[in-house]
Amino acid sequence: MENEIIERFQHYFPGNNEGIRVFFAPGRVNLIGEHTDYNGGFVFPAALTIGTYMVAKSRDDGKFHLFSESFPDDPVSFSSEELHFQGDDPWGNYPKGVVQELLKLGVKVTGADVYYHGNIPNGAGLSSSASIGMVTAFGLSRLAGEQPSTKQLAKLTQRVENNFIGVSTGIMDQFAVGFGKKDHALFLDCSTLEYEKVPLELGDYRLVITNTNKRRGLADSKYNERRSECEQGLEQIREMKKDIQTLGELSIDEFRKVKDNIGNDVVFRRVRHVVTENERVNLARKVLKKGDLAVFGELMKQSHESLRDDYEVTGHELDALFEAQKAVKGCIGTRMTGAGFGGCTISIVKKDVISEFKEQVQEVYEKETGLSPTFYTCEIGDGVKELEEATV
Ligand code: GLA
Repeated sequence: MENEIIERFQHYFPGNNEGIRVFFAPGRVNLIGEHTDYNGGFVFPAALTIGTYMVAKSRDDGKFHLFSESFPDDPVSFSSEELHFQGDDPWGNYPKGVVQELLKLGVKVTGADVYYHGNIPNGAGLSSSASIGMVTAFGLSRLAGEQPSTKQLAKLTQRVENNFIGVSTGIMDQFAVGFGKKDHALFLDCSTLEYEKVPLELGDYRLVITNTNKRRGLADSKYNERRSECEQGLEQIREMKKDIQTLGELSIDEFRKVKDNIGNDVVFRRVRHVVTENERVNLARKVLKKGDLAVFGELMKQSHESLRDDYEVTGHELDALFEAQKAVKGCIGTRMTGAGFGGCTISIVKKDVISEFKEQVQEVYEKETGLSPTFYTCEIGDGVKELEEATV
């Protein structure tokens, strides 16, 4: 892989090999804990082995020339003097925003030639954007001879998403992409950023990702809408419970005491999702440590139902997959993963029924939606890194 992508880099940027470096950042899948991160709650994602490769070489004229194999007709060029968001650019705003934030941080990025090769399906809710953001932040700072911490890079990439791109995401994706570890899930408390890497021992089971292949449409504006509904809920709860900073702090018991303060039914259900989901993530960590996959799977199903009924971010396609997958014998857990409104599900499926699972789900899903799903065998890999062994 490394040699191939270096050749592709050289195709776009002919010249000698000196100073070429290769970096990789994974995509992520969230096992449980959805729409809790920006509420100061718990999440439980894992990094994938698919992701974004970045081949890069420094320049010293302040110019950035970028090619992406996923957008062959849209090369991107800019200089560090003109870092403006461009609405019609399908991907260049991520690296541009990263350069802006790196400069603010004092990292002396002096320009670069860059080639990206990614194998995460775009817009599928597997964090292709956090992946390109993190690999760029990590790679460009290494080219500048600096090593900001992974936590700094995750926060920086989140700022790009929030301030440059304009989606008020939490920190889960960037954190998982940064801190992922092979065959481990990452339990993260989003209010303190304390985390624990929990071994994912699946025994006879495997994780299967299913893509709805539904375009995500208005996902960004709906995402921001959910976030502001949660803020409204928090404000109303604060009238009774003055010291509370985030919804993530509320236990189910505390929620019961303050729930009548929430006047609006929609806001009430949004808050109920956050509070119950947080409880599920906590339990999920405990049962995973005990190796109780059956209970873990049940919690995943409850999570989907809450995202469907209370948070309303699933939609027909994700619900159709959920029902079809739940019905397969040997599938002990399944739910939507990521922001929702399309994208993917994640399921725990017994190894020896995976092909039946795929067949059965495909048939039902096609009948229900007219769309064909895509399945990925899900392998859990490491976080952002430089590929040292690349022979350049
Ligand atoms: C997106 C965001 C994350 C998180 C999830 C929902 O992936 O980028 O920060 O909020 O949605 O859990």
